[in-house]
Parts: sequence; C-alpha cells; structure tokens
Amino acid sequence: MVKFEQIKGFVFDLDGVIANTSAYHAQAWHQLADELDVTWTEDLGNQLKGVGRMDSLNLILKYGGKENDYTEDEKIKYAAEKNDNYLKLLESLDKSVILPGMGEFIKDIADHHYLISLASSSKNSPRVLEKLDLAKYFNERVDPVTLKHGKPDPEIYTRGAEILNLKPEECVGLEDAVAGVKAINGSGETSVGIGDPKILHEADINFNDTSEVTLENIKKAMDQMSDSIATD
Ligand code: BG6
Ligand code: MG
Repeated sequence: MVKFEQIKGFVFDLDGVIANTSAYHAQAWHQLADELDVTWTEDLGNQLKGVGRMDSLNLILKYGGKENDYTEDEKIKYAAEKNDNYLKLLESLDKSVILPGMGEFIKDIADHHYLISLASSSKNSPRVLEKLDLAKYFNERVDPVTLKHGKPDPEIYTRGAEILNLKPEECVGLEDAVAGVKAINGSGETSVGIGDPKILHEADINFNDTSEVTLENIKKAMDQMSDSIATD
C-alpha cells in the first residue's frame, strides 16, 4: 500500500476534473446524437466521459444500434462536426469554468514542488489549459495522438508518470470518469475519483466534488487506507 509520503507527482485529467468542459463535450455529442437519431441518455453521457473522439462516436453509434450504418469516411466527417460544435462552445471559455478549488489546488501542489502532468484524452487540452491560465503549472503533457490505446487502457496514465520520470506508485491520478479511474488503477497510480461515488466506486479515494480535493484531504484518505490495511 502506497503511503502519502511516497507521492511525488500528480497526473490530471482535464475535462470534468479541472474544468467544467465535460459539459461542453456532452452538449456537442448530444447535438450530434440528435442528428444521427440516437436517443441521448444520462447513461450514454457517462459512458462517453474520458473517452477519445472516435471511440466516443463509435460508442454512440453502438448505443443506437447503428454501428454498421456508416463508412469510415462518414465517421471522420461526423467526428469533425462534433469537434466544430465543441470549438464553438470553447470560444467564450474563460477562467469561470475552472471547477471549485482546482485553481488553488494546482497552485498549492506546484508550490509544494510536486511534479504535475496532464493525461487528458482531448486533443484540445493545450488550448483549454492556456485559456484557463493554468498551463504554466504543468511540467509535462501526454499527447493523446501518440497513444496506442485510449482510456480505460492504462497507457495514458503510465505515460503521465513516465514523462515526469516517476514510478506510477509515486503518483496520484485524478479523474471524473469511470474509464479514467480504470486507466489510473491499471497503471498502478493511486486513483482519486471526483463525482458520484456509486459511479466511481473503483477509485481508491472518492470525493463528491472538486472543492474537497486538497492535499490535506488526500493525505487523510491515504493515511486511512494504510491504517485499515495495517489493522486487517
Ligand atoms: C476527454 C473528454 O477529455 O476528451 C471526452 O472527457 C472527449 O468527452 C475526449 O471526447 C476527446 O476530446 P477531443 O477534444 O480530442 O475531441
Ligand atoms: Mg474527464
């Protein structure tokens, strides 16, 4: 069991963890699902969280029983259309979309000399981080284009530690998505799930919302985890 004192770095998801941009992704996918005549549900929205662009489109088509209805070229066109919708929503993006406490938390861990990397599936993440004026705190970023497999595969979190020259056990990963929590767990990092604990029950540590994410609370949770294992 990893102790808090062993932690040297934090690997962040972006959409839904640092910024409320997951709502923008959902809105843009919803728009496309309507066009494809696939019924949008909360469950579908949750399945898409954290999942890359093409994989998301394939999930939507499968959900609507339309997985064999389109050629690869048509799918590329629809994925581009979703991205155009998303970029339109990003035009008005400013610091107000930073989720409660996350600006302070990132600054705090940087002040405490932890290393920080980004493990977002989004190709738009550099643009979003710049707009939020948070890029300066990140030592490294995994470029999702270079990955063989998307979340829930652990590759993105494994790389998130590697690019900081850290072992996975020395890192905490933060996620709002089921696919993302699975990816962190598979990489061997300590997983923090932010959101409904019933949905994110596989996470090592759960917080209901971002305002609870502080170094102190992560330490408390990790101390409790090692205490409960020691007394088992
Ligand atoms: C993830 C989002 O961070 O990035 C998903 O949670 C999104 O909703 C994925 O589909 C890919 O993003 P993009 O910007 O490259 O289409
Ligand atoms: Mg996310």
